Amino acid sequence: MDKAQKSFHKTRREEFSRLIGKDSIAVIFSSSHQNKSYDGDFHFKQYKNFYYLTGFTEPDSALLIAPGGIKLKTDSKEKTIYEAAYVQIKDPVMETWNGKRLGYKSVKEELGIENGFENQQLRSVLNGKVLQNYSRFYLNIAEMLKLNGDMKGILNFFTDSLNKIAPHIEITDASSLLGKMRAVKTSFEINQIKKASEISIKSYNETLKMIKPGVNENDIMASLVYNYSINGSQDSAYYPIVATGENACILHYDSNNKKLKDGELLLIDSACEYNYYCSDITRTFPVSGKFTEEQKLIYEIVLKANKECIKKIKPGIKFSDIGKLSEKVLADGLFKAGLLKNKDEIKKYSLHGVGHHIGLDTHDAVPHSKTLKEDNDTLKPGNVLTIEPGLYFTSQMKEIPAKFRGTGIRIEDDVLVTGNGCENLTLSMVKEVREIESLMKG
Ligand code: GLY
Ligand code: MN
Ligand code: MN
Repeated sequence: MDKAQKSFHKTRREEFSRLIGKDSIAVIFSSSHQNKSYDGDFHFKQYKNFYYLTGFTEPDSALLIAPGGIKLKTDSKEKTIYEAAYVQIKDPVMETWNGKRLGYKSVKEELGIENGFENQQLRSVLNGKVLQNYSRFYLNIAEMLKLNGDMKGILNFFTDSLNKIAPHIEITDASSLLGKMRAVKTSFEINQIKKASEISIKSYNETLKMIKPGVNENDIMASLVYNYSINGSQDSAYYPIVATGENACILHYDSNNKKLKDGELLLIDSACEYNYYCSDITRTFPVSGKFTEEQKLIYEIVLKANKECIKKIKPGIKFSDIGKLSEKVLADGLFKAGLLKNKDEIKKYSLHGVGHHIGLDTHDAVPHSKTLKEDNDTLKPGNVLTIEPGLYFTSQMKEIPAKFRGTGIRIEDDVLVTGNGCENLTLSMVKEVREIESLMKG
């Protein structure tokens, strides 16, 4: 791991440590392999909260944070420890099958975490005798419950003793606190999202040339994913949605197996991940290279909503108000076009909210609502959001003239909230009608 990344994760551990306080202790588990079928696993993906604090991408590990210190045995001496990574045991046979393991001896040098232990040693923390010295115990409980492999035995040991431990220590899920931290991105994180967006845009531009009648949705997906990979991305941020015609009205359509037809629109919602950080982009293209009058009319309404929302983004504005603005622009546009009799009916055609936070998760696992106690709705510098208005007319919507039916249009950009406004991170991705038509002409 390079110095900049090491230092980013270190600052995250320091901040988390400060927030939980000296009378708390935390254990954040990494992910484990998940079985796909028979003896095959899904491709391994690290838990994002664990990654946020460590940058470590091996399974069956855990991070210990003890802001007030914890006395533990290291190489037979007792020592007060403030942070430690528990990692897989070095095992030449398993490493031959599944790849090299870092090993506890390299934790400090490679991850910059002060202490390293073998994962089984976590048992010496997860017991009543040790935990009763603290008032609060933070765990990533929701993620912990899905663990397999090496960690399952440790968890069984812990849950067996939980009945005795629970009355003496407040047990808290760390996800909400980590989510609040993750909502405000550092410059390191912004750079990763920018890189993911850059690779995604380059891949769209390579792929655009392929759009024509007769090509399959799958071919378009293959081109995007191929380009993500050869341009340095490690994964798709989410399964690509390549939806022609009415398929675009299925919001998370993933069959991607229909042939593109002349006269239809093709909605592509796809982006890559870079260093575990996600981009999230949607554009809608005419399969023939030219929008029909009806398609253009709806496209311009969605584009207006996209642009007006982005224009309004700055610190202090409520994300929910951006959502209301998007609905208003969409409703006004359809009303003016004579497609809505009553503006209150807009939700029937707009289907989803205006956007979401992005970061380590595509729908970033950060609190975003306003509760009685907390306001996570008001935008702050460092938030990164999608703005993705859409309009969808299925063939069943007989109240809509036939020429508009079987169409879904969404335009999605990724926007960083800056000190006094915002920066559109996907600005260089074409979205004006004339730009799209001229690019598709070749
Ligand atoms: N790609 C999923 C979404 O836009 O929310
Ligand atoms: Mn999105
Ligand atoms: Mn999307």
